[in-house]
Amino acid sequence: MKREILISESAIQKRVREIADQISKDYKDAEPVVIGILKGAVFFMADLMRALSIPVKMDFIRAASYGSGTETSGTVRITKDIELPVEGKPVILIEDIVDSGLTLNHIRQLLEGRGAASLRICALIDKTERRERDISVDYCGFQVKEGFLVGYGLDCNEEYRYLPEIYVLKE
Ligand code: IMP
Ligand code: MG
Repeated sequence: MKREILISESAIQKRVREIADQISKDYKDAEPVVIGILKGAVFFMADLMRALSIPVKMDFIRAASYGSGTETSGTVRITKDIELPVEGKPVILIEDIVDSGLTLNHIRQLLEGRGAASLRICALIDKTERRERDISVDYCGFQVKEGFLVGYGLDCNEEYRYLPEIYVLKE
């Protein structure tokens, strides 16, 4: 498939540092548990964590909602759970893209049910056009209205994740 560059590597890295500065201020005395949603958020989380100036704990969760291709299946299933306890802890969820909001809504409910003291959402991309659940993104990298994006962790059928920039796929 053809692709067009949407966000350059330097623009991503600049925005990552800005978000890291904000999180470092907001969680100065809190030591949050930062939970990355696999696999898409891996690069974003790795870059973000190294730009923080506060201590954090890290864990990962994996949810499946998309089958193959670009359409959501509508159901969310946890295929790998976190291992750290979150009860009484401030939690930051790191996601690659919020699209319909179904995935984050499911994970948010799960962690709130386990007694997280607070929960904020940090997403590289906030894609607003197809939102179905009321998810507010507390730390947002970039707002994008539409299109299927790949690169910097984002995939289409497991391709393109390794690219350091973000692209939009063209038919
Ligand atoms: P949801 O629709 O908000 O539940 O999004 C579910 C997942 O779909 C996200 O975690 C992304 O990994 C993936 N996703 C949504 N839009 C895109 C896209 O444009 N490119 C790549 N993955 C996407
Ligand atoms: Mg994903």
